[in-house]
Amino acid sequence: MIKITENYQIGILEMDYVSKIQELEQGFGLAMAQASDLNKLEQVRQQYLGRSGLITEFVKIIKELSSEDKKSWGGEFNRLKIASEQSYQLRLQELQIAQKRQVELERASFDVTAYQVGRQFGSLHPCSLISAKIEDVFISMGYQIADGPEIETEFYNFEALNVAKDHPARDMQDTFWLNLPGYLLRTQTSNVQIHTMQNQQPPIAILAPGRVYRSESTDASHDFAFMQVEGLLVGRDISMANLLATMQVCLQAIFGQQRLEIRVRPGFFPFVEPGVEIDMECPFCKQGCSVCKRTRWIEICGAGLVHPNVLRAVGADPDEFSGFAFGLGLTRVVMLNYGINDIRLLHTNRVAFLQQF
Ligand code: PHE
Repeated sequence: MIKITENYQIGILEMDYVSKIQELEQGFGLAMAQASDLNKLEQVRQQYLGRSGLITEFVKIIKELSSEDKKSWGGEFNRLKIASEQSYQLRLQELQIAQKRQVELERASFDVTAYQVGRQFGSLHPCSLISAKIEDVFISMGYQIADGPEIETEFYNFEALNVAKDHPARDMQDTFWLNLPGYLLRTQTSNVQIHTMQNQQPPIAILAPGRVYRSESTDASHDFAFMQVEGLLVGRDISMANLLATMQVCLQAIFGQQRLEIRVRPGFFPFVEPGVEIDMECPFCKQGCSVCKRTRWIEICGAGLVHPNVLRAVGADPDEFSGFAFGLGLTRVVMLNYGINDIRLLHTNRVAFLQQF
């Protein structure tokens, strides 16, 4: 007979130890198997192996046993202790691995694009939209898109374009001069003609949309900065007919019309000869409206055949090559296209205005 202990107050027969050990092992094994994550397993560990856990308490009985019983039972108690500790470690590793796999799985299927902070979409500026539309038309005809500096020298903005120092044409375009002598904000995208022809031999076919600057007082239809699209085609036998056909195709595409008549008037620009101003048929009316000021025509573009002096200035032989150039008022087209009646809206960055496009 063994001594009565606190936990096992009723005298426990030797056989009872065996069944108690079995019961504890089975209970512990089952509880661990059912613990589906590390937190639950920790609870089970405390319940059985913690300071006053079921197994811990049970094993303490050994101290109370007679030395004879200690001898015969010590091994069994010890086995229980070690075995439960080992099976706990195994289950712990199993769950740790499972948890790691779960995390990896979650990370692998984590879609960063699924996260959305509110829904606020920007939109393209109307000038960008129309510019892209025009670019598409010209790219489809084999043109390349070119770019040039907005801070420019007198040479590229005037001299190489056949506008001599004291030429009255310089007054046509009120220039913003920079403090840096000889530098200005380009008054026209025609500077890109020169940059391109200096770097490239004919045939040349480029389109250069961009911002230009003029020192003007502003009102609803004038601004100190606006956009132009420069076009330049240089090759052999390029004529006025090519220019007019190209402009017609371009304007029809912008305004989505099957056929849009254009009208050509003589115009003076020192870098073209002959020089013309191109008007387009009002795309909005048949008998005169406020947009065309009841004239049925809208002035849209300066153009002409590239002046021999310009070709010479960039080292091309005017007897061999000819070309046309045009400067389309992009801002003008944007305003016409969207019915915008104040040019200044285009760069005030008012969200309410910009959201409409
Ligand atoms: N650069 C001219 C302007 O700004 C337009 C133009 C371009 C005219 C090309 C002829 C040829 O007024």
